[in-house]
Amino acid sequence: MKILVTGGCGFIGSNLIRHLLSATAHRVVNVDKLTYAGNPNSLAEFADAPRYVFVRGDIADVTLMRGVFADHAPDAVMHLAAESHVDRSIDGPADFIQTNVVGTFHLLSAAGEYYQQLSGSRAESFRFLHVSTDEVYGALGAEGLFSESTAYDPHSPYAATKASSDHLARAWRTTYGLPVIVTNCSNNYGPYQFPEKLIPLMIIKAIGEQPLPVYGRGENVRDWLHVVDHASALCQVLQHGAVGHTYNIGGDCQRRNIDLVRSVCEILDELHPRQNGCHADLIRFVADRPGHDFRYAIDSTKIRGQLGWQPQHDLESGLRQTIRWYLEHRDWWQAILDGNYQLQRLGRV
Ligand code: NAD
Ligand code: DAU
Repeated sequence: MKILVTGGCGFIGSNLIRHLLSATAHRVVNVDKLTYAGNPNSLAEFADAPRYVFVRGDIADVTLMRGVFADHAPDAVMHLAAESHVDRSIDGPADFIQTNVVGTFHLLSAAGEYYQQLSGSRAESFRFLHVSTDEVYGALGAEGLFSESTAYDPHSPYAATKASSDHLARAWRTTYGLPVIVTNCSNNYGPYQFPEKLIPLMIIKAIGEQPLPVYGRGENVRDWLHVVDHASALCQVLQHGAVGHTYNIGGDCQRRNIDLVRSVCEILDELHPRQNGCHADLIRFVADRPGHDFRYAIDSTKIRGQLGWQPQHDLESGLRQTIRWYLEHRDWWQAILDGNYQLQRLGRV
């Protein structure tokens, strides 16, 4: 199969492409705009791989996307390209509306036109997998889980744009017959995550002996899933998921932020001890995120029961492996801190 992946130079996209190229025989066409979050270094080992093609481009450029479909004739789309960071969406929502809503609209338009030209078994097996988030469901109190039938109630500008894109994707199925499947996943962690997100930010700041900023009192809860488990879930849904269905993906692994940050600190105390004191001494409670959703938690019964998917990483060993990865790949994140990865993505080094 030839799979068109959008946003493949980001955190989840690069881990997904690594999975597709290492564990399957699929071919991959990766369309990525290379925003600040897109990092070709994350896929450096595949730069010349025969089953991999990279196209630098914007999903909102419908002419370019029509060309990509015409030139590469994919058998499926896995759509991950997005502006993904909640705090950035609060400071500047415009890019989120442009990529997540307008960009998804143009991508769906190009995919829909392409799909209309397919026939026979190619049309029958074509899939458009729209990758989304549990944040579309809003926030939970102390009890309960998000299921596929939970009503949408997005709070942040990021969540609102992802909710819009989910609705557009579903509308393209009901209106134009595009074989769309939607996934909504909880918080991912693992290697190659941009150091603005909680876990890599804490690891890198702790290694640098800097304060660890925990919003509010650190009581907000997130449901954590290793990115490789998300990649395997997406492949399972692409292969066996039912058209028109939604699958919630989650690790059944809720943690309060403060407990998670303390776990990061404890693992670092062991793997990378401080000269004086322990890493938890660096924790600082700072002003809360506006509109901070209290708790996310996913009911993943459907994907587990119907598609037989199971996460392979528990949080303790996944976190340890992730911390080890950041300790051993200082060059990857140091280039981000120095801005050098930006020079490389612009072809200047
Ligand atoms: P990321 O920010 O790490 O990567 C996004 C990628 O998209 C980058 O490579 C960027 O260059 C690219 N991109 C952005 N705008 C583009 C455009 N207009 N055209 C082409 N490429 C563009 O994001 P991520 O954390 O890897 O998330 C990937 C997807 O998964 C997103 O759709 C996100 O909403 C969803 N998701 C993320 C999480 C999570 O915990 N990170 C959880 C559930 C769902
Ligand atoms: O739930 C899925 C979502 O998870 C994805 O859709 C988003 O793309 C992804 O960014 C993530 O959103 P969060 O806002 O949950 O992730 P973030 O890493 O920004 O924050 C995780 C929690 O940690 C959240 O409660 C805010 C808190 N936090 C975050 C940062 C960056 C802190 O306390 N301090 C920080 O410095």
